[in-house]
Amino acid sequence: MENRYGKLASRVYHLDKPVGRSFGDIEFYQDRLKCCSGPILEPAVGNGRVYIPLLEAGFHIEGFDASDDMLDYCRSESETRNLSPTLSCQTFSEFRSTTVFDAIIMPAGSFQLVTQVDAARELLRKFYDHLVPGGRLILDIDNMKGLMETSGTMRRWQHSERELLTLTGSPPEIDYVHQTSLSILRYEHWKDGALVATEIDLFHLRWWGINELTLALKDAGFHNVSVSGDYRPGKPLTNEDLVFSFEAQRPLQTSSYVSPDQTGSDVGN
Ligand SMILES: C[S@@+](CC[C@H](N)C(=O)[O-])C[C@H]1O[C@@H](n2cnc3c(N)ncnc32)[C@H](O)[C@@H]1O
Repeated sequence: MENRYGKLASRVYHLDKPVGRSFGDIEFYQDRLKCCSGPILEPAVGNGRVYIPLLEAGFHIEGFDASDDMLDYCRSESETRNLSPTLSCQTFSEFRSTTVFDAIIMPAGSFQLVTQVDAARELLRKFYDHLVPGGRLILDIDNMKGLMETSGTMRRWQHSERELLTLTGSPPEIDYVHQTSLSILRYEHWKDGALVATEIDLFHLRWWGINELTLALKDAGFHNVSVSGDYRPGKPLTNEDLVFSFEAQRPLQTSSYVSPDQTGSDVGN
């Protein structure tokens, strides 16, 4: 029941954030990836909101996601565009691939869905191991203000004249010690005024400090870590920025991840 993106949640996501709907992120990722000629990976690819425009732009990109309902939207949207996506149903912890990638991207704050800090660090290491030397990991996190200042949600989508979808979200329970928020999301599908389906999801996120995530990336072996605010690379970060995008590179020289505990040395920038 946690971060499940089930049938109704996926339907609402696809109505609210269809393929190509950009928050400035699609253009940002396309620009950051323009020098990549090798394979790219999007973990938590979802309905293909970002993935399909990148595939259409000619990038060699593959994706995985834990939700088959989300992947079904990505598959059918690809099909209507005559695209051949490379997709698999896997969780972050299950993820394995024999491919090593030029870049791994995670837009939309999906990294924050990993709420156990050890699991998040393990995932960064796994991404490191799936990058070519010199390859880059680019991921977004939301400003923690956005997580904490939400007072609850009530939204609706008129799907057709007879059908209505609603989403009611509780105000988040905040765990300041573990830096997590938990909201109860209730999705409802109404037809001709009668409730035909309902779904509940415990939506759990972790927030990261900018410095904290920079250090975690360096601990995982990355260097050249840079952060942009609201998709404006090279501009100073501001308190108003809603999204922070991290870009980190696997060094050209090292072969595989070596724990800092084993070396006793800092990775440096
Ligand atoms: C916010 S959506 C992002 C979708 C897409 N990347 C985008 O930018 O619109 C988060 C996605 O993470 C997936 N997800 C949640 N937990 C996951 C896990 N443990 N492993 C893999 N994917 C997961 C969900 O199924 C959902 O499709």
